[in-house]
Amino acid sequence: MQTLTITKPDDFHLHLRDGVALASIVNHTAAQFARAIVMPNLKPPVVNTEMALAYRDRILKCVDEKYNFEPLMTLYLTDNTSAEVVKVAAESGVVKALKYYPAGATTNSDQGVTDIRKTAVALEAMMGKGLPLLVHGEVTDHDVDVFDREAVFIDRVLAPLVQDFPDLKIVFEHITTHAAVDFVLQSGGKVAATITPQHMLLNRNDLFKGGLQPHHYCLPVLKAETDRLAILDAATSGNPKFFLGTDSAPHARNTKETSCGCAGIYSAYAAIEMYVEAFDKASKLDRLEAFSSRYGADYYGLPHNEEQITLIKQTQTIPATLPLGDNELVPFRAGGTCSWQLKN
Ligand code: DOR
Ligand code: ZN
Repeated sequence: MQTLTITKPDDFHLHLRDGVALASIVNHTAAQFARAIVMPNLKPPVVNTEMALAYRDRILKCVDEKYNFEPLMTLYLTDNTSAEVVKVAAESGVVKALKYYPAGATTNSDQGVTDIRKTAVALEAMMGKGLPLLVHGEVTDHDVDVFDREAVFIDRVLAPLVQDFPDLKIVFEHITTHAAVDFVLQSGGKVAATITPQHMLLNRNDLFKGGLQPHHYCLPVLKAETDRLAILDAATSGNPKFFLGTDSAPHARNTKETSCGCAGIYSAYAAIEMYVEAFDKASKLDRLEAFSSRYGADYYGLPHNEEQITLIKQTQTIPATLPLGDNELVPFRAGGTCSWQLKN
């Protein structure tokens, strides 16, 4: 039987939520990943170091003692984030980045940035401290086609931002298009990108296969097959600018299977296995470990993990549902299979 042993990976983009939802899901991630960059889009959002420290404690209380899991905290950038907030964050050693949500772009982004130029003071301070800016790269204008929102964001916002702040570390999160891959490749070493399993494995036809598929709806939305192939190529290219970030985002089943459903795909249950399957299908398994366990850590200036995990090429069935507090969620590929399995 084929096996693969790699340095324990890190997830550089994860939604853990809070309260009973957090308690229900965090150990799926802790079983596979040593560290995760935890998104700050709670209600209310995590806007300062004090809130991040308290949230970190709540996360750690829910982690099973058999795991050595380290949450890497982020702050939610707003129009009002001050240089002082950035300074305290950088000096905490616990906050590793700030997240830029264009206001209205996605789940809990209503307090996000209305115009990136309003955040210049914070960006200057981040540049000085070497704190990365994590970007949800989509314009929100309703006259822009939903499939073009990432490409338009590059032209209108990201390219000028990189020009104005050349020394700012920027992670273009969950990239979905050929245009985004090209932009990252053409940019200097400060610009990197995370890639999700769904954007490597699915295209927009999967939103409509046999009927509307709400559990395949995430933001940025799935794109065309040509885009998926560009994302797959980037992830498996061995270029250190591209690294693992699941964007795993749990939502209760009834908030997705409804007349106006939420965006988010919950992949954390078998995330590393889904990536291994994608790399295996592309005959690039030899490139997996660097993508999952080295490039992201190097970008963030973190040591490589010492623990290892082993994966077995053996079909596993993904549960139809998983508990989420008093509710349930429907995970990525629910009721289907994955061709790899994490060995416990
Ligand atoms: O699909 C998504 N879900 N995209 C995001 O940007 C946010 C996330 C969430 O928090 O549910
Ligand atoms: Zn996200």
